[in-house]
Amino acid sequence: MTARLIDGKAFAAQLRGRVATAAAAFTEQAGRKPGLAVVLVGEDPASSVYVRSKGKATLAAGMESFEHRLSADVSEAELIALVDRLNADETVDGILVQLPLPKHIDERAVITRIDPDKDVDGFHPVNAGRLATGLDGLVPCTPLGCLMLLQDIHPHLAGLEAVVIGRSNIVGKPMAALLLQQSCTVTTVHSRTRDVMGHVRQADIVVAAVGIPGFVQPEWIKPGATVIDVGINRTGDGLVGDVDPRAVEVAGAITPVPGGVGPMTIAVLMRNTLVAAGRRAG
Ligand code: GUN
Repeated sequence: MTARLIDGKAFAAQLRGRVATAAAAFTEQAGRKPGLAVVLVGEDPASSVYVRSKGKATLAAGMESFEHRLSADVSEAELIALVDRLNADETVDGILVQLPLPKHIDERAVITRIDPDKDVDGFHPVNAGRLATGLDGLVPCTPLGCLMLLQDIHPHLAGLEAVVIGRSNIVGKPMAALLLQQSCTVTTVHSRTRDVMGHVRQADIVVAAVGIPGFVQPEWIKPGATVIDVGINRTGDGLVGDVDPRAVEVAGAITPVPGGVGPMTIAVLMRNTLVAAGRRAG
């Protein structure tokens, strides 16, 4: 049996279409477009590409894009002063500071300075706390995109065994919180877990977010399981995921890399910006 390939690119395009329609309605009502400010510090080539893509997607969704490019030697105080200005700017609904930041800047100090209601990345501890306790907030884009793909395949997630591989604040932890909110039985495995394979073998749903090319082996996967591969690893062979591609022969459904989770992240960012704009407008 070969797994159904989950077409994240098509799903993301549909989501972006729906966001564009809702953004037009917001603009009509509010008399202004939803606005997203993206801040890039330095000239990391991968980050530059992401920031350009985010700006393009924002304009394509009929929203205002504000791009702030700062030099790599900007001080933490200057960056925080910019965040303060964006927090106070009524035309800005969403603020995203592209990570990683240069070593001399404390990422935590910057993230916690962002107004939680403009934190479209969902990285602020207030939003992490809202997610953990079931309050409305802004949810990190990549895990929310993964959940949307999963819900498309499993309209009823309740009771399913889910294993999340990786415990980062950006993907693993919020992913586990989202699956728990959906009443899955959730296990998070990580670098200190004694028997990763034993856990993965039980799972109806596997979300791999470890950043190790081909880490998840086909033999680990329960036949018919749904596998979401968050990995985007640049190797000599091009972009590869965290899941060995031979898993396609065991899984019931699987996201390809590229074209699976990747396109969802920016689409959800657009969605989060619209949600932030709607809540701010009351
Ligand atoms: N760097 C890599 N992914 C992300 C992301 O989702 N948000 C931000 N702010 N920086 C990133």
